[in-house]
Amino acid sequence: MDKIVSLSKRRGFVFQSSEIYGGLNGCWDYGPLGVELLRNVKDQWWQSMTYREDIEGVDAAILMHPRVWEASGHVENFTDPMVDCKECKARFRADQIEDSPCGNPAYKGRKASKCQVEGKFTEARQFNLMFKTFIGPMEDSTAVVYLRPETAQGIFVNFLNVQAASRQKPPFGIAQIGKAFRNEINTKNFLFRTREFEQMEMQFFVKGGSDEKWFEYWKEQRMAWFLRLGMTKAKLQFHRHEPDKLAHYAKDAYDIEYEFPFGWGEIEGIHNRTDFDLTRHEQYSGKSMKYYDEETKERYTPYIIETSAGASRSFMAFLVDAYREEQAPTADGKMETRVVMRLHRRLAPIKAAVFPLVNRDGMPEIARNIELALRPHFRVFYDDSGAVGRRYRRQDEAGTPYCITVDSQTLQDQTVTVRERDTMKQERIASDALGRYLRERLAE
Ligand code: GAP
Repeated sequence: MDKIVSLSKRRGFVFQSSEIYGGLNGCWDYGPLGVELLRNVKDQWWQSMTYREDIEGVDAAILMHPRVWEASGHVENFTDPMVDCKECKARFRADQIEDSPCGNPAYKGRKASKCQVEGKFTEARQFNLMFKTFIGPMEDSTAVVYLRPETAQGIFVNFLNVQAASRQKPPFGIAQIGKAFRNEINTKNFLFRTREFEQMEMQFFVKGGSDEKWFEYWKEQRMAWFLRLGMTKAKLQFHRHEPDKLAHYAKDAYDIEYEFPFGWGEIEGIHNRTDFDLTRHEQYSGKSMKYYDEETKERYTPYIIETSAGASRSFMAFLVDAYREEQAPTADGKMETRVVMRLHRRLAPIKAAVFPLVNRDGMPEIARNIELALRPHFRVFYDDSGAVGRRYRRQDEAGTPYCITVDSQTLQDQTVTVRERDTMKQERIASDALGRYLRERLAE
């Protein structure tokens, strides 16, 4: 993980939030490469979900009516047990003391469990993970609103709006990508557990009775999505929630887990939420959330199959999965270690880099023209500094699938070399055929 965190900062994938002020715990900023990778992850998800006829998209507000969170159960249940250390005043999740270091810098390397044994902890108390703020000018209890801890509720409360506007009939889904906030007690492992993060959630509304079939369908679809984007199969697994561990709304639930360097961790949850959500919103709002089927003249509350992926966690899994240290030959035939991000082409932040071999004989001008011709279609990068081998290495670290070099042969026959990141093989391509060549390969 240390290598990934350090590469993320050095190459501009991820920075600590407010770094110059010492950072803000549980918050991260995406740099120039990171923002592209994150966008590509979200675009791939959005395409796979909404470029089909049975799913619509929404983008709901982050602030919602406070009754939403009473209906959802978050005000009552979205809590973690927490203990305070009476000596150093650090706060720990009561169920994670074993994994937590002691909060006192004077006891370096000591585990919090030792302080617990020594009786330094308070009794466990329930701590609600929702961030609170006030809406309007009065800062009193009537003005309390929450930053949403999940995007799902914005979909549930809009179920009938979307259904009526789009004239969809169950089975159909609503997809949304957006920020969510949780005041996690222990943030840890880089982007894995943060206080501000993004979710990619889809709620699929079906008639009760067909829910188990659709649950199986979405489970398989979601695993296939990660595999299609090149994630290593052996590092992915399903984890079924035991009946006694199911969330209060779920009839069945599977996590898709990725094997991070610190162990297996959930990147997505697939839940059979039954008719819990729409029933609760009907009770709390007093408005019917039932669907009326014109054909059968039936009125019913749909069941919901939820696919809930973390965009930030998936980003981190793609980043970890892509990282490789490999032996590669240098220009003078020796071997060196290259760091290469083997990101799927669709996810790679930069699709192609263009280099003049040397900065003379008209090569920079030709390379600039190639760059300009490609720019409207892909994110490209122009680099003319240092030995070409060094430039390849810099693009390997950024995960750029293709490097195009203008050399002396280009001056004679208008061909360029195209070097592929993973195989490091080079091909000569006519420079006016480059656009098509790249388009075909990047669409794969
Ligand atoms: N609507 C259901 C729901 O929110 P969840 O299992 O609490 O379910 C879904 O969250 C996904 O959101 C997780 O699989 C994870 O990828 C992401 N996620 C949850 N909490 C997170 C956090 N503190 N930091 C980063 N990602 C988080």
